[in-house]
Amino acid sequence: MEQKRILVTSALPYANGAIHFGHLAGAYLPADMYVRYQRLRGRDVLYICGSDEHGVSILISSKNEGVTPKEIIDRYHEMNKSAFERVGISFDNYSRTSLPVHHETAQEWFADFRERDLLTRSSEKQLYDPEARMFLPDRFVVGICPHCGYERAYGDQCENCSKYYDQTELIHPRSLLSDADPIVKEAQHWHFPLGDFQEKLEEYVASHEKDWKDNVLQQVRSWLKAKLSDRPISRDLTWGVQVPGEEEGKVLYVWFEAVLGYISSTKEWAAREDTPDRWKEYWCSEDTKYVAFIGKDNIVFHCLMFPAMLMARGGYVLPDNVPANEFLNLEGKKFSKSQNWSIELKEFLDEYPADPLRYTLAMNMPETRDSDFYWKDFQARNNNELADILGNFVNRTAHFTGKHFNRTVPEAGVLDETDESFLAEFAKTAEMVAANYERYRFRDAVVSTMNLARAANKYFNDREPWKTIKSDPAVCATTLNCSLQAIYALSVFIEPVLPFTAEKLRHFLALPDDAPLRWDGPAEYRLPAGHKLGEKVLLFDKIDDKTVEAETAKLGAMAAGDEEEERTYPPLKPEITIEDFMRLDLRTGTIREAEKVPKSNKLIRIIVDIGSEQRQIVAGIAKQYKPEDLVGKTIVIVANLKPAKLFGLESQGMLLAGSTEDTGPVILTPLSDLPDGAQVK
Ligand code: 2FM
Ligand code: ZN
Repeated sequence: MEQKRILVTSALPYANGAIHFGHLAGAYLPADMYVRYQRLRGRDVLYICGSDEHGVSILISSKNEGVTPKEIIDRYHEMNKSAFERVGISFDNYSRTSLPVHHETAQEWFADFRERDLLTRSSEKQLYDPEARMFLPDRFVVGICPHCGYERAYGDQCENCSKYYDQTELIHPRSLLSDADPIVKEAQHWHFPLGDFQEKLEEYVASHEKDWKDNVLQQVRSWLKAKLSDRPISRDLTWGVQVPGEEEGKVLYVWFEAVLGYISSTKEWAAREDTPDRWKEYWCSEDTKYVAFIGKDNIVFHCLMFPAMLMARGGYVLPDNVPANEFLNLEGKKFSKSQNWSIELKEFLDEYPADPLRYTLAMNMPETRDSDFYWKDFQARNNNELADILGNFVNRTAHFTGKHFNRTVPEAGVLDETDESFLAEFAKTAEMVAANYERYRFRDAVVSTMNLARAANKYFNDREPWKTIKSDPAVCATTLNCSLQAIYALSVFIEPVLPFTAEKLRHFLALPDDAPLRWDGPAEYRLPAGHKLGEKVLLFDKIDDKTVEAETAKLGAMAAGDEEEERTYPPLKPEITIEDFMRLDLRTGTIREAEKVPKSNKLIRIIVDIGSEQRQIVAGIAKQYKPEDLVGKTIVIVANLKPAKLFGLESQGMLLAGSTEDTGPVILTPLSDLPDGAQVK
């Protein structure tokens, strides 16, 4: 059954950073191509998105940049909204989760669940910063990883060994907000009964076994297999949607409310259109097909948590498909903002047009596995495909018609087999490309689209109009007529991937009013003979080798050189007194023994002689140092730190090392000789 309406959403990007190519290829470009295609089919389609403006990631950016969270979200919301527009992402609405309509919507959902006794409340142990007087979100606490001993492990996950744990398991936790030692305190939280939806979700997923992508099904099945459990949906934070009926400082978990952002954005759209109830036509009707485009890291929330919430609320449509893409990398490496290994959309668009980028990303879309953006590939796609095939065909046709037919569509004479079969390609292309879009196969859709441009180029070559203009002008006129019909066909079929170029083609054709801007137009409609064409347009500029070399070098240089300027620094801790400092007993000592801790990749056990005694210290430095290189070195240790156990070994102190994400720990040693046991102050 074909539904009446199509509702399309793209994951709401966090408003704490600039959108880069990876984001674009993941959840926005494919959705936009799908939506543009559906609009050409004449379907009632609504495309919804907006900025995700809550959550700890926003708070961390605000701390790092030393500005308020509001300043962060305002800056990045505007930046991303404009970058999306410039790259042609045609949202019907781009909202913000900081708007009242969103807060009200999320609170209403929570209140409804609570009133119907769906939610449970239980207390959990959490780290509390007595100085900052707040519970510490996982990213605001670091300590020693309980698994590998890494010294800057976060509250939820260790970046060194990737293991997950509870923040209360961290050894020597430290608050990143203040210098106070966090204490363990009970906190009350609301939970959503995801476990109760296990069976219904299994049925839901099973009903989509044939149409969902393999990568999505695999992830979802493994979650279902492990059995779903209840999820906390409140947090102790001051930034977010306040939990209704609770004191300040309790907010809804960002994922609980962010997915509802799709609904509140639709409400905002409906109000703007002066039809405030129309959002329900899309969300609360069986006649809607809902497609949620996301990146692979969002699968569990969109395929399990959000559907369970929609089921719990009742009367809402569930996603019919969740076409999640894998990740796009850049020149063989992961995008990384901190290492400047990234190309931000805004900066790119200041230099290059959007369509060649859209085309390159579509041709390399990470549909089934991770893929890459390479500058060289971008150049080749632009020069050898867009310029040499599509651009060349349009250019030659325009030039020839201008020169020999007074810029009008010439009369088609008798069509021979070649002409007929060329024109028949339009309907075939329409069908083939449509089938690919309907199945979310974007790369294949674009390949089939470009095949028509290839066929057109070949047709023009084979017909040799530059010869027939003299030998058989009627045949020449037919060739140009068919070529112009092909430009019209291309202007329709390329619209999803190359919308700006499609617009240029329509401008050149000066399309008559009755020319349908519809997917089936090219199969049904012909430009009439005698129609006056518009001005010739340049479609694609070639990109030279120097430009590509410069761009690639910039990327490398940025990653290697400009780090000092671009690096962000952890915030400075609050001031302490000399007495505070004097409580530390720092001593010099010589490393007498060093060996790797068996079964650990990261840990080294050292024996340090601090004059008065010998200490055993277990440190996460095996990636940076070989045990044999350490013996005999003088180092500084914290001699009065409470002992801790790592891998079953007691660590009686801590060695001093400086560290950044890039270097890992670098051990500090005295500049000249110092005997063991010297006080460091
Ligand atoms: O991963 C992210 O960038 C999230 N901001 C996506 C949220 S999608 C939905 F929940 F809004
Ligand atoms: Zn670890």
